[in-house]
Amino acid sequence: MTMRGLSGKNVLISGGTSGIGEAAARRFLEEGARVFVCGLDRVEDVVAALSPLGKISGTTCDVSHEDDVERLVAEATAALGGVDVLINNAGTGWREPFLEITPEHWDTIMAVNLRGMFLVGQAVSRLMVRAGTRGSIVNMSSTNGLGGEEDYAHYNASKGGVLLLTKTMAVELGRHGIRVNAVCPGYISTPLNAGIEADLGPDFVAAYQRDHIPLGRAGQAAEVAAAYAFLASDDASFVHGAELVIDGGQLAIM
Ligand SMILES: NC(=O)c1ccc[n+]([C@@H]2O[C@H](COP(=O)([O-])OP(=O)(O)OC[C@H]3O[C@@H](n4cnc5c(N)ncnc54)[C@H](O)[C@@H]3O)[C@@H](O)[C@H]2O)c1
Repeated sequence: MTMRGLSGKNVLISGGTSGIGEAAARRFLEEGARVFVCGLDRVEDVVAALSPLGKISGTTCDVSHEDDVERLVAEATAALGGVDVLINNAGTGWREPFLEITPEHWDTIMAVNLRGMFLVGQAVSRLMVRAGTRGSIVNMSSTNGLGGEEDYAHYNASKGGVLLLTKTMAVELGRHGIRVNAVCPGYISTPLNAGIEADLGPDFVAAYQRDHIPLGRAGQAAEVAAAYAFLASDDASFVHGAELVIDGGQLAIM
């Protein structure tokens, strides 16, 4: 498993302490990159578990707070010496009918998924521009950024926002040699979805996977990590402002 140009690179992964972000930390270490993770919790556990694979460290951080993000970027820079790749992955979400969403819940999801993506993306981009780093940024959107899944109005809106943030970053940062892309995973088995699955029950989940996903199963976090690795690598050297869908064919259904 090798993507061109990742070995020896410095990679910052937000939300790298669980699910897709943790799988990404593992994948980048396997590619020979040096990794710095942040998350709300589990930093020490993930660093301890993945340390045998290579150089990894991290910090606890809430990406929706600018002070935390400033500290995150300073700590990552101190640990790695610079940032070549940002995997802008942290996010949250839950099911809630549109008619019942409170302004507080709306604000929470927007603060983490969209404001947090902006804050970390801007802070790392400023660092890259200052250092003259021809870096790569991959933002986490979702298939929910491309279609309006029922009971996810706040989440869908935040992920749609990530796609236009990504395109605008690509337009403005391309001239600095910084590539910016997004990934749009569909249904992936992670702790985030485990809670939702527990609410819906195993029969609903099995029927959903059978009826809505042509490959007939949920994706694995490592399958999204592979897309992150590709988009961050030199193998994607002319891929810019794009969104890569990883959904087992879910969006192909009419
Ligand atoms: N699981 C899916 O089916 C799926 C599909 C499409 C997109 N996504 C997106 O993938 C990303 C990762 O999700 P996951 O399924 O791996 O979930 P997860 O809950 O397993 O992991 C989420 C990670 O983000 C971190 N995080 C959450 N809020 C944060 C905050 N305010 N500040 C810093 N870190 C924060 C958590 O600590 C954790 O490390 C999210 O952006 C999610 O929206 C997930």
